[in-house]
Amino acid sequence: MAELTQPMNVHWVDGSREEYEQLCSQLVESRTFVKLNEKLWPGCYYARSDASDVARVEDRTFISSFSKDGAGPTNNWEEPFSMRRKLKGLFDGCMRGRTMYVLPFCMGPIDSPMSQIGVQLTDSAYVVVSMRIMTRIGLPVFREIDKDVKRVVPCMHSVGVPLAPGQKDVSWPCNKEKYIVHFPESREIWSFGSGYGGNALLGKKCFALRIASTIARDEGWMAEHMLILGVESPQGEKTYVAAAFPSSCGKTNFAMLVPPKGFEGWKVWTVGDDIAWIRPDEKGQLRAINPEAGFFGVAPGTSWETNPNAMATLSRNTIFTNVALTPDGGVWWEGMTKEPPAECLDWQGNRWTPEIAKQTGAKAAHPNARFTAPASQCPTIDPLWEDPHGVPISAFIFGGRRATVMPLVYQAFNWSAGVYAGATMGSEMTAAAAGTIGKVRRDPMAMLPFCGYHMGDYFRHWLKMQRLLSMTPRIFHVNWFRKDQNGSFLWPGYRENMRVLKWIVDRVHGRVVGRETPIGWVPRYEDIEWRALDFPREKFEELQTVDRDAWKLEVIGHEELFIKLHDHLPPEMVYERELLICRL
Ligand code: OXD
Ligand code: MN
Repeated sequence: MAELTQPMNVHWVDGSREEYEQLCSQLVESRTFVKLNEKLWPGCYYARSDASDVARVEDRTFISSFSKDGAGPTNNWEEPFSMRRKLKGLFDGCMRGRTMYVLPFCMGPIDSPMSQIGVQLTDSAYVVVSMRIMTRIGLPVFREIDKDVKRVVPCMHSVGVPLAPGQKDVSWPCNKEKYIVHFPESREIWSFGSGYGGNALLGKKCFALRIASTIARDEGWMAEHMLILGVESPQGEKTYVAAAFPSSCGKTNFAMLVPPKGFEGWKVWTVGDDIAWIRPDEKGQLRAINPEAGFFGVAPGTSWETNPNAMATLSRNTIFTNVALTPDGGVWWEGMTKEPPAECLDWQGNRWTPEIAKQTGAKAAHPNARFTAPASQCPTIDPLWEDPHGVPISAFIFGGRRATVMPLVYQAFNWSAGVYAGATMGSEMTAAAAGTIGKVRRDPMAMLPFCGYHMGDYFRHWLKMQRLLSMTPRIFHVNWFRKDQNGSFLWPGYRENMRVLKWIVDRVHGRVVGRETPIGWVPRYEDIEWRALDFPREKFEELQTVDRDAWKLEVIGHEELFIKLHDHLPPEMVYERELLICRL
């Protein structure tokens, strides 16, 4: 690869603290990083990306499987031989004038049989320091590779900006042309042109979801876009659940939930906020690990009020990207404090004041601005979060942002009805695009952009998993976002979601009855713990309404995705749909 990409140097990453600090100093020197005020933000750095390199590029993301049918209609596909030819051309000499870092990383605890290993070759020091927070890297991983028991996933990455001799670098090199390519059969990732987030930190979406989902299908486990949390009762009973919500539905907040008043003695423990690898143990119990070691969270909207645990986590040793820089060497983003700073530099380096924002609508932080923070710093990190055998999963929760139709919570009748609920889940599009308000974008299991193979086969894999289990997790659907006729949210959300979580835990342990509806089991008013919250019965009933006419339209909506997938759609999905229609 060095012969192909022609770097100036090759640096083998040992993963040490000294190396991290040396790379961070180098990034400060090259103006990619600003070191934040050590008193306010100890060990923290600030980066501004290029304005064109701010998010995952789904339209430039490819699954290059041997057959187009293998990738399915929801993925971009290109035939692997021509794709390899194209990539070879792009990578030819692409690291000239730069250092190639040889970055071994482990997804999951190093000593876990559920973990997987990759080696990323990258010409970005920003990627190396970010991966040191997000994964386990360096010498311990080289030692694992030397044992030769796990197959290594090769990951090629370049920002795609070679430097001529003497040419000065820019603070955020990236290329207009971007390719994020996955070869599922040979288990390889090639990423070109971007230095940001899921495009560049290849352990996350590329490996832990797209490639891992294909490995999991072949080996009989699951790689899911799910948070993992543990609920501990005052009696010390601990129940773990995994939950999938599409982007911007509050996954990180839910993973770090603080129980509300009335729940004294209850604790919610965080295992992961984005990805779960789940495998049946020898007893047929599903166990999950978080393959990551850090949180790559959306900053805007995160505050001491909405997510105090995230705020505590990111208070030190964190890399901020595309938030605003305050004059005292700190960071700020929309929603962080009620009072914005009198002035700051926005994510593009321009002067920003609340007045300017009022006049022009300019945002201080990019809406996809991120913090990259070590999970070990989370005050609620579960004592078992690095257990090599994972934590036992008792329930799956699916959810989306739905103003109408979907009740606050329901429990699917059984596994295949639950898979149907996950397969048809969706989120309403916001007011951003005129005319589409209320239109539901289907995002099965929140995996639409992350499944490395045909979505119909993915549903089949979910259905087949049940046959490997002696204890089948219960499946639930939640919706924190239902609105009344005046457009106000019916449910306060945030901490109060604990009340729903408690009902879920009680159902899992068979301690509370459910009321049968056409879509599944729902709680009665008296089944929810209302201590210290004044929530009228009528409002709860409105929140839980299952409107048969609205649901008939909802079922027609399910067809939109199913038609696309029809030639790979498992029969269970068709029968579940028919049964639902009959019950309605
Ligand atoms: C993420 C995402 O960044 O889902 O986690 O987009
Ligand atoms: Mn995610």
